[in-house]
Amino acid sequence: MLKGKHIIVGITGGIAAYKTATLVRLLIKQGAEVQVVMTPNAREFITPVTLSALTGKPVVSEFFTANTGEWHSHVDLGLWADAMVIAPATASTIGKMANGVADNMLVTTYLSAKAPVFVAPAMDLDMMAHPSTARNLDLLRSYGNHIIEPAEGELASHLVGRGRMEEPENIVRVLDGFFSRKQRLAGKKVLITAGPTYERIDPVRFIGNFSTGKMGYALADAAARAGADVTVISGPVNVKASEHSVKVIPVESACQMYDACVKAFPESDIVIMCAAVADYAPVDVHDTKIKRENTEGMTIELKRNPDIAAALGSVKRPDQLLVGFALETDHEAENAVRKLKAKNLDMIVLNSLAVPGAGFATDTNQVTIFKADGSELSLPLMSKAETAANIIDNLS
Ligand code: C5P
Repeated sequence: MLKGKHIIVGITGGIAAYKTATLVRLLIKQGAEVQVVMTPNAREFITPVTLSALTGKPVVSEFFTANTGEWHSHVDLGLWADAMVIAPATASTIGKMANGVADNMLVTTYLSAKAPVFVAPAMDLDMMAHPSTARNLDLLRSYGNHIIEPAEGELASHLVGRGRMEEPENIVRVLDGFFSRKQRLAGKKVLITAGPTYERIDPVRFIGNFSTGKMGYALADAAARAGADVTVISGPVNVKASEHSVKVIPVESACQMYDACVKAFPESDIVIMCAAVADYAPVDVHDTKIKRENTEGMTIELKRNPDIAAALGSVKRPDQLLVGFALETDHEAENAVRKLKAKNLDMIVLNSLAVPGAGFATDTNQVTIFKADGSELSLPLMSKAETAANIIDNLS
């Protein structure tokens, strides 16, 4: 998948920079065209001559060549690239990238890059564990950058811990996987429901739930990265899609979500129902705020909301794929499979509430995928972004 791809390899000043020669070599072996951009510090660790010999292109390190005055355009480089990979990425460069400190050619190119960016951190275990590193990496994730997590192992300091740059072979694998995914859903229309629904009681109160929409929006990003045309029908949330191509139709209540889904369904190839839809809504919505002094206790009469997933399942065409989510507190697998059948789904993703770090409002999730053909796949606890990419990879 890397044949003919234009890849910027950014190198920063860490010991692991010597491994980047292998990374460049492997990328070129796969048919990629590589342009190396180095920070001034990186040149202390590996010589530009090695890298320009491998890539067949002069290494870019300064804004201009001192003796000729030739200007190196970070904007042109940013437009040329199909991907940018920064390996090793030091704590300092990660901090600069997170905060827009464009004081060298590498960070300036990063800020101009339109292509996906992959960051392979490498640093000592204490630097890696520092809250500022964690915060800066979170910022990069929020910009849609892909973090290639460092491995555990012996570090240059001879200490053992987390901070070793991922091996060049694995970095190439991540890039290759990214470009293969990009083709997977090309030309497909994907509809995703996300977030909670709010069922109004009066003008200031509602019945809702703790869903944040993180999982639904992570799925939207993953589907967009796989080349799909993605629409999210979203309940009230504070999250945003990282991928600019994702379209969002905001709704508030289950009935509004139902109407929007029914309208969009015929045009959709794949529908993922990730929203936590309220099962019931108040029968009467008060026009004015219900006053406390007028009531001793209170009973709110509720009526059943439509089951959107089941409604779509009942009119699903054979060429459409319908995926649901399940959140269970008991007999998890049994209940998930029952819902898969009852709603005529092709696949159901069971969120485990039993695992710490999974479920609502967390950044991680642990899910098991059940398919209509009886197959079952349990994924490990991982970030919602990685969970989403795995779900998208397993759609069928
Ligand atoms: O039945 P239960 O609510 O557990 O089913 C969960 C699945 O059904 C999820 O995919 C959820 O988005 C969907 N659902 C729905 N409409 C409802 C309730 C749930 O689409 N009213």
